[in-house]
Amino acid sequence: MRKSPPFSLLAVMTILLLPALVPPSASELKAASSSDLVVRWQASRSSPLDLEVSGDLVGLPAGTTRYLTRAELVSLPLVTQVVTDDANFSGPTEVSGVPLEELLRHLARAPESDMVIAICDDRYRAHYLQAYVATHHPLLVIKINGQAPEGWPKDAEGSDMGPYVISHVKFSPSFRIFSHQDEPQVPWGIVRLEFRSEKVVLAAIAPRGPHPTEALVQAGYRIAQQNCFRCHNMHDEGGQKSGRPWQVLSAWAAAAPDYFAAYVRNPQAKNPRAQMPGNPGYDDATIRALTACFQTFSPEEKP
Ligand code: HEC
Repeated sequence: MRKSPPFSLLAVMTILLLPALVPPSASELKAASSSDLVVRWQASRSSPLDLEVSGDLVGLPAGTTRYLTRAELVSLPLVTQVVTDDANFSGPTEVSGVPLEELLRHLARAPESDMVIAICDDRYRAHYLQAYVATHHPLLVIKINGQAPEGWPKDAEGSDMGPYVISHVKFSPSFRIFSHQDEPQVPWGIVRLEFRSEKVVLAAIAPRGPHPTEALVQAGYRIAQQNCFRCHNMHDEGGQKSGRPWQVLSAWAAAAPDYFAAYVRNPQAKNPRAQMPGNPGYDDATIRALTACFQTFSPEEKP
């Protein structure tokens, strides 16, 4: 389905009617809705603090990349909240930012684009599914304790958390699949947001083979969406932090399920230099579900 004409007409009209107010060439003015949240896109990066935005943006061709300067983000209507249970902060912390719901509503092209992906400088990706956004109301944090990134607290290892982080005022898990519980998605070092179609993105890792709808396989798929997909990619979708694509994991699940299981639970036991965080709480059913799901990407060998 295409977006409704009045919306794109409005964007075009705004660009035509307001040229006198717009700084020339590199900048584009775009009214995201008839009323609030108007942003001025930049065509190129001018600072490491700029936020790159791509995917399906209102009024722009699919796949366009644009930038929002920090000054532009600070000028938006910000929500200020005190966060008490975010593992990135050592105590109650005041954060100000823009809810992902607002960004989606005003900047993403509807109905094609209904999901936000936050991409970090280490190629980790957090995928904000519609249900997650509606339940947990994640906030793109622009100021912490009223400060810009140079004044932000460091993470547990002493790294900078800027230029952007995502947080929640309060997080209560909303689902459980075997021993995987809904986990807060609180990335830091965010450099890019992508507005995408959830259906298209998740299709990249949808189970294959003769039994994709089997309950165990589907349970593994749900867990993999929230966990593995952050660091393991299928072609262009998913995080690339691990350098181990989906098919490599699948090959392990198919050929050496014991190694696969042991790695998921406790990577350091298999590889002392492992960077992957372990999942020591995953019980046998959880591991079986993940194994079954990943195996579907490795066609069985014909005799
Ligand atoms: C936070 C990032 C991260 C997440 C989340 C993650 N991994 Fe990994 N994974 C890595 C990295 C990095 C490696 C490369 C080796 C290392 O440093 O541990 C890796 C390696 C692996 C390997 C070993 C591959 C090999 O070639 O030896 C397996 C198997 C694996 N991951 C499975 C999974 C599964 C299944 C999930 C989801 C339940 C998952 N990983 C979630 C980061 C992650």
